[in-house]
Amino acid sequence: MALSISNDMVAGVWYIVLVIPWTFLSIAIASDAAPKLSALDAEAHALLESEWWSDYINHVPSRCQWPGIVCNNAGSITNISLPTELQLGNKLGRFNFSCFPNLVHLNLAAHGITGSIPYGLGTLSKLTHLDLSSNDINGTIPSDIWHLRNLVTLNLSRNKLSGSIPMGIGLLNNLVYLSLSWNNLNGSLPLEIGNLNNLQIVDLNTNSLTGEILSALHNLTKLTELNLARNMLSGSIPMEIGLLNNLIYLSLSWNNLNGSIPLEVGNLNNLQILDLSTNSLTGEILSALHNLTKLTELNLSSNEISDMIPQELTQLTQLKNLIISDNKIFGEIPADIGKLSKIIVLDMSRNMLTGEIPASISSCSNLQLLILSNNKITGNIPSHIGNLVSLVLIDLSHNSIRGEIPYQLGSVKYTRMLILSYNELTGTIPSSLVLLKKLDLSYNSLEGEVPVALQNSYPPDSFIGNDNLCGYTYIHSCYSSPQISNNTDNTPMKIFLPLNVLLALLFSVYVFFCWCKGESCKSVSKETRDGDMFSIWNYDGKIAYKDIIEATEGFDIKYCIGAGGCGNVYKAQLPSGRVVALKKLHNLEANEPVIQKIFRNEVKLLTKIRHRNIVKLYGFCLHNRCMFLVLEFMERGSLYCILRNDIEAVELDWTKRVNIVKGIAHSLSYLHHDCRPSIIHRDVTTKNVLLNIESEACLSDFGIARLLNSSSFNRTVLAGTYGYIAPGQLFGCVNVMRKNDLFS
Ligand SMILES: *[C@@H]1O[C@H](CO)[C@@H](O)[C@H](O)[C@H]1NC(C)=O
Ligand SMILES: *[C@@H]1O[C@H](CO)[C@@H](O)[C@H](O)[C@H]1NC(C)=O
Ligand SMILES: *[C@@H]1O[C@H](CO)[C@@H](O)[C@H](O)[C@H]1NC(C)=O
Ligand SMILES: *[C@@H]1O[C@H](CO)[C@@H](O)[C@H](O)[C@H]1NC(C)=O
Ligand SMILES: *[C@@H]1O[C@H](CO)[C@@H](O)[C@H](O)[C@H]1NC(C)=O
Ligand SMILES: *[C@@H]1O[C@H](CO)[C@@H](O)[C@H](O)[C@H]1NC(C)=O
Ligand SMILES: *[C@@H]1O[C@H](CO)[C@@H](O)[C@H](O)[C@H]1NC(C)=O
Ligand SMILES: *[C@@H]1O[C@H](CO)[C@@H](O)[C@H](O)[C@H]1NC(C)=O
Ligand SMILES: *[C@@H]1O[C@H](CO)[C@@H](O)[C@H](O)[C@H]1NC(C)=O
Ligand SMILES: *[C@@H]1O[C@H](CO)[C@@H](O)[C@H](O)[C@H]1NC(C)=O
Ligand SMILES: *[C@@H]1O[C@H](CO)[C@@H](O)[C@H](O)[C@H]1NC(C)=O
Ligand SMILES: *[C@@H]1O[C@H](CO)[C@@H](O)[C@H](O)[C@H]1NC(C)=O
Repeated sequence: MALSISNDMVAGVWYIVLVIPWTFLSIAIASDAAPKLSALDAEAHALLESEWWSDYINHVPSRCQWPGIVCNNAGSITNISLPTELQLGNKLGRFNFSCFPNLVHLNLAAHGITGSIPYGLGTLSKLTHLDLSSNDINGTIPSDIWHLRNLVTLNLSRNKLSGSIPMGIGLLNNLVYLSLSWNNLNGSLPLEIGNLNNLQIVDLNTNSLTGEILSALHNLTKLTELNLARNMLSGSIPMEIGLLNNLIYLSLSWNNLNGSIPLEVGNLNNLQILDLSTNSLTGEILSALHNLTKLTELNLSSNEISDMIPQELTQLTQLKNLIISDNKIFGEIPADIGKLSKIIVLDMSRNMLTGEIPASISSCSNLQLLILSNNKITGNIPSHIGNLVSLVLIDLSHNSIRGEIPYQLGSVKYTRMLILSYNELTGTIPSSLVLLKKLDLSYNSLEGEVPVALQNSYPPDSFIGNDNLCGYTYIHSCYSSPQISNNTDNTPMKIFLPLNVLLALLFSVYVFFCWCKGESCKSVSKETRDGDMFSIWNYDGKIAYKDIIEATEGFDIKYCIGAGGCGNVYKAQLPSGRVVALKKLHNLEANEPVIQKIFRNEVKLLTKIRHRNIVKLYGFCLHNRCMFLVLEFMERGSLYCILRNDIEAVELDWTKRVNIVKGIAHSLSYLHHDCRPSIIHRDVTTKNVLLNIESEACLSDFGIARLLNSSSFNRTVLAGTYGYIAPGQLFGCVNVMRKNDLFS
C-alpha cells in the first residue's frame, strides 16, 4: 500500500518534472516561431485583433475578400479602403500597424474615428496614400508619421487635430498632395515644407496657423493649388509667390496679411482663381494684371486697397467673378467693362467709386449679380441692363444715382431683386416692376402714386422715404393736404408703420363684445414677459414691455386718463420721451375666448394698415393675463367731448371742422378703397374721432370693424351705435362693392 502510494508519488513527480516544462517549452517555441514562419499569419492575427471586420470573420473565410481589403499575389494586404458602413469609433488604436509591411493605401475617411492617431503608423513603410479625413481625430499629429517616406497623398483634413505641423514633414519628399485643412493646428508654417518640391496641392485652410507665409515656398514649383485661407497668417505676401507659375488656385483669404499685393503675382499666368479677400492688404489692385489671362475669379474684397480700377482688368475676358467690394477703390468703373462677357458676379460695393455706370455693362449677358451699392456713383441707370435676362440681383443702393427708373428693369420673368434705395431717383415708378421678387426704392425722390399693382406686391417699406410719393397712405396719402405732413414726426412714424389700427380695433372689440362693468386697473406681473404676448410687439425695437410697465408703474390708477366698460386708458411717457396712450382690457374680459380670438385675428389683419387719419398703433400685447394696445396719444381727446365743452367747441372753428371732416373722409376712403381686403369701420361716431394737439382728426376704435373680401361681401348684419350706422348698411348694400368690382 505504502509502496504503491510511493510509486504514484514518483509518477507525479515525473509528471511535474517532465511534462509541464515540456508543455511550456512547446508553447514558447510556438509563439516565438509564428512571426518568423509567416508574416501573413501576423497580418491575419492583427486583423482579428483590430475588430474592424468582426461582422465578416465568420461568413467570409478569406480575409482578402473582406470588404475594403485588397491583397497582392502573395496574399499580403496592400490596400485598405473601408466601406462607409463600417464605423470605427475608438478602434483605430487596436490596429497593429507594424503587421502590414505591404500596405500602400490606407483610406479611413469618414469612419467616425475618435481619439488620437496612435503611435506606430510610421511603421507602414510602403504607404503611399493615407486618408484619415472627415473623422473626429483629436490630439497632435504623431511625430513618427514622418517616417512614411513613400507617402504621396496625405489627407488629414476635417478632424480636430491640434498642436503645430511637425517639422519632420520636410522628410516626406514624395508628397504630392497635402491637406491638413479644417483642423485646429496652430504655430507657424514649418520652414521644411519648402523642401517638398513634388507638392502639387497644399491645403491648410481653416486652422489657426500664425506667422508669415514663407518665402521658402518658392521651391514648390509644381504647386497648382495653394490654400492657406482662414488662418491667422500675418505679414505681407512674399514676392517669391510669383515663382509658382503653375499655380491655378491661390487663396490667402481670411488672414491678417498686410502690405500690398506683390507685382510678381502678375507672373502667375496659369492662375484661374485668386482669392485674397478679407485681409488688410493695401496699395494697388494689381499691376500687371493683364498676364493673368486665365483668371476666372478675382476676389479682393474686404481689404484696404486704395487704387483706381486698372484698365487692364477688362482684358481678363475669362472672368466670371469679380469681387472688389469693401475697399477704398476710387475712380470710375472702366467704360469697356462690357468686354467681360463671361462675368457672372460683379461686386464693387462699399468703395468710393464715382462716375456713371458704363452703358457697355449691358453686354455682360451672363451677369447674375450686379452689386455697386455704397459708392458715389452718379448718372442714370443704363436702361439696357434691364434686358440682361440672367440678372437676379441689382443692388445700386446708397449712391447718388439720378434720373428715372427704366421700366426695363422689371421686364423679366425671373425672380429678380432690385434694390435702388438711398439714391436720388426721380420721376414716377414704372408699373413694370411688379414681377420682381424684391423691390426696394426707399429714400429716393420718386413722386406720384405707387401703382396699385405694386402696392399689392410689396410691403410699404419698399417705398418709404420718398417725400412726393403717395398711394400707401401711411407713406403719404394721395388725398391729404401736404402741410400736415410737415409737422409730423416723420422718421419714427415710418418705422412704426404696421401696427396702428390694431389697437383701436382691439379696444373697440371689447366695447362691442362686452358691454361690461368697470374694473379698476390691475398691475401686470412681469413674468408674463416670457409668454407669447408680444405677437407683433415692438416693431422697431423702441418700445419694450418693461418700459410700459415702468412708465405706468404696473398700470397704476394714477396714470389712468379714461375708463370704459371693460378697460381703461392710460397715459405713459416712455424713456424715449414719446407719450403714448395705452388701452388695456380688464383682466376678466381678456380671459374671454371669444374676445381673444377676435383680438388676435383682427390684429393679424390690421397690422398692415397705416393712415395719417387713423390713430397709430405702436405695439400691443396679447396675452390672456394682459391685453393692451400702445396707441398714438391724442392730446385733445374725442370730438364728442370737445363738442360738449362750450369753450372748446367755440375754439373749434369752421376751418378746423372742415379739416376734421376731410380727415375722416380720407381715412374712410383709405379703408374702403385702398385696403385689400376692404375694411368697414361700422361705428363712425364723434366718440371714435380723436383729435391731436393740432386738431387733426384720427379715427379710432375698430372693434367692430369688418374685413370684406371680394368673395364674401354681402349684406352685413347691422352693427354700431344707433344714430351713426352707415346709410349703406341700412339700404342693404355695402359701399365697397363698386370699387371691389374694379379689382376683382
Ligand atoms: C504588434 O505586432 C507585433 C508583431 O507581431 C508585436 O510585437 C506587437 O506587440 C504588437 N503590438 C500590439 C500593440 O499588439
Ligand atoms: C491600391 O492603392 C494604390 C495606391 O493608392 C492605388 O493606386 C490602387 O488603385 C489601389 N488598388 C485598389 C484595388 O484599390
Ligand atoms: C481629403 O479629404 C477631404 C475631406 O474628406 C476630401 O474632401 C478630399 O477630397 C480629400 N482629398 C483627396 C485627395 O482625397
Ligand atoms: C480626444 O477625444 C477623446 C474622446 O473622443 C477624449 O477622451 C480625449 O481626452 C481627447 N483628447 C484630447 C487630447 O483632446
Ligand atoms: C497650440 O495649441 C496648443 C493647445 O492645443 C497650445 O498648448 C500651444 O501653446 C499652442 N501653440 C502656439 C504656438 O500657439
Ligand atoms: C530650393 O531648392 C534648391 C535646389 O533644388 C535647394 O538648393 C534649396 O536649398 C531649396 N530651398 C529651400 C528653401 O528649400
Ligand atoms: C504688417 O504687420 C506686421 C505685424 O503683423 C507689422 O510688423 C508690419 O509693420 C506690417 N506691415 C505693414 C506694411 O503695415
Ligand atoms: C507677361 O507674360 C509674358 C510671357 O508670358 C512675360 O514675358 C512678361 O514679362 C509678363 N509680364 C509681366 C508684367 O509679368
Ligand atoms: C469673396 O470673398 C468674400 C470675403 O472673403 C466672400 O464672402 C465671398 O464669398 C467671396 N466670393 C466668392 C465668389 O468666392
Ligand atoms: C415746413 O413748413 C414750413 C413753413 O410752414 C416750411 O418753411 C418748411 O420748409 C417745411 N418743411 C418741410 C420739410 O416741408
Ligand atoms: C349672403 O347673405 C345671405 C343671407 O344672409 C346668405 O344666404 C348668403 O349665403 C350670403 N352669401 C355670401 C356669399 O356670403
Ligand atoms: C373671404 O371670405 C370667405 C367667405 O366668408 C372666406 O371663406 C375666406 O376665408 C375669406 N378670405 C380671406 C382672405 O379672408
